[in-house]
Amino acid sequence: MRYSDDIIEEVRTRNDIVDVISGYVKLQRRGSSYFGLCPFHNEKSPSFSVSPGKQMYYCFGCGAGGNVYTFLMEYENYSFQEAVKALADRAGVRLPEIEYSREARALADRKALLLEINKQAARYFYAKLRAPEGAAAMKYLTGRGLDDDTIRKFGLGYSDRYNNDLYRYLKKQNYTDEVLKESGLFNIDEKRGIYDKFWNRVIFPIMDVNSRVIGFGGRVMGDGKPKYLNSPETKIFDKSRNLYGLHAARSSRRKNLIICEGYMDVISMHQAGFTNAVASLGTALTSQQAGLLKRYTDEVLIMYDSDDAGVRAALRAIPMLRAVGLATKVVSLKPHKDPDEFIRQEGKEAFEERLQKAENSFLFEIRILQAGYDMADPQGKSDFFHEVAARLLKFEDEIERNSYLETVARLYNVQADMLRKLVNRLALKGAGISGIIEPKKSRERKQEKEGGTEKAQKLMLTWMTSYPEILGGLEKYISPEDFTNPLYRQVAEMVEDQFRKGEVNPARIINHFEDSEQQKKVAALFHEQIALDTEAEKKKALLDVVCNMKESSIAGRLSGLDPTDLAGLQKLMEEKKKLEALRRNGLPEGVFQ
Ligand code: UTP
Ligand code: MN
Repeated sequence: MRYSDDIIEEVRTRNDIVDVISGYVKLQRRGSSYFGLCPFHNEKSPSFSVSPGKQMYYCFGCGAGGNVYTFLMEYENYSFQEAVKALADRAGVRLPEIEYSREARALADRKALLLEINKQAARYFYAKLRAPEGAAAMKYLTGRGLDDDTIRKFGLGYSDRYNNDLYRYLKKQNYTDEVLKESGLFNIDEKRGIYDKFWNRVIFPIMDVNSRVIGFGGRVMGDGKPKYLNSPETKIFDKSRNLYGLHAARSSRRKNLIICEGYMDVISMHQAGFTNAVASLGTALTSQQAGLLKRYTDEVLIMYDSDDAGVRAALRAIPMLRAVGLATKVVSLKPHKDPDEFIRQEGKEAFEERLQKAENSFLFEIRILQAGYDMADPQGKSDFFHEVAARLLKFEDEIERNSYLETVARLYNVQADMLRKLVNRLALKGAGISGIIEPKKSRERKQEKEGGTEKAQKLMLTWMTSYPEILGGLEKYISPEDFTNPLYRQVAEMVEDQFRKGEVNPARIINHFEDSEQQKKVAALFHEQIALDTEAEKKKALLDVVCNMKESSIAGRLSGLDPTDLAGLQKLMEEKKKLEALRRNGLPEGVFQ
């Protein structure tokens, strides 16, 4: 299932984080830490820090952070196990084999085998494209304007006219029918048995971000149907978590990423120098893909086809990209259908101009919205502006809302003040629906409070790991069950456990989380800033954190209490009394010793 904690920790301590990260990022010493340009987001001045003392890294710009395992998982897209393996190799530590559960090992082996089969198949198709029988396919590709370098870079190939030659080729290499069936490269038919899925098609290997072939798309040469056939999802091919072209686009020097619809679009753009283009895999953009994009950039240009479907797809994608914190713009390719056609017709300079003219995604949404209203009709016009006001209301930042409000007013010929009144009226109306209680505001307050509670818990963990000496004195007031966030509670338990064993070691705690998103969250806990100098300041701040956290923990448990649970109630009342006493008397002397 997994390696033992001791092995994981041994491998970690044998790989100094500064050494490892130096292999990827140019680091410079500044005080007790090293700084460099963050590899996880675009930046011009270094906010990426590596601490040899803590053996952790943290980016003050984007919040990426963790230990040496997290770094490899994020940078190389490794799983936790793969990161352990790579670092064990690097440090010459021999890993025991048996620690995997049988199922986990079987799955890992199976995935490795499927990747190998895909690689073999990709090579086979690649060679066929260059063989005499591939001449027509080659002609098709060059006819579409692709040059040799591009064809090589994307590993394009050809599956020939016979419907079982790939099968025979792979059988010769002793793969079993069972695993070949799982590869997605074959169809199975009761009468005909097992035969090639792709034949007489141009082949587009689909690679993950580490350039491993995980599936294929195959295009007919001409007008046949279906235009593209794609590998089905397999153990190694998850269409919702990969993007076509990302293996190349991730190292592009351009400042954003372009998301488009098609394989050919990506390839054409790369050939024209727009090496930041990626596409989803024949399905609508998913939130996982949005998250994946966010790992490599802060801004995405949406470049979907110029038809209605493309507009609808953009309207669906925008909120998804926004939700992960990506700035988004929409590029119009009109009157051409897609990026590939645009570039072929107009060339790269004109294309670059379109990128420069990309439309802000909010204004795009409003423009599309307007098309649904009859602006010549007073009612239609009023409905439109009501909807606009409702959307403006969603901006939390007042400056941002105001600036959009003014832009929209200018673009749609309405006085900004009128629109502002509409927004304000809507805000009041939304707030007044149920009379006494203002639902919107109370919801906001609740959110704020929840956010505050989490923040207090986070801060508490920072205190606990930065000043482990307070843990002894703190035990009386705070226990892991006061952490309402399950992740924080787990971390608190681990810190406590380490404290009891005599060493608080945050980098080791990160080992316990195998998911890099979780590792990142945990690492962030240890990097909340506490910039306080004097003992008295620290004591006051700590007292605040303890009291805030305790109060919400008690309130939370009280509201979840079974009304008949008198013992539980009594316990909470006692805790409440203790809290009041703590507030009155403050923390005892010597908490920081
Ligand atoms: P398009 O029809 O826009 O194709 O489909 P395209 O990429 O412009 O292809 P060309 O230029 O005609 O060669 C966009 C994407 O939708 C998926 C593919 O991923 C394609 O790249 N698709 C399309 C399919 O999976 N199957 C199809 O039959 C059609
Ligand atoms: Mn096309």
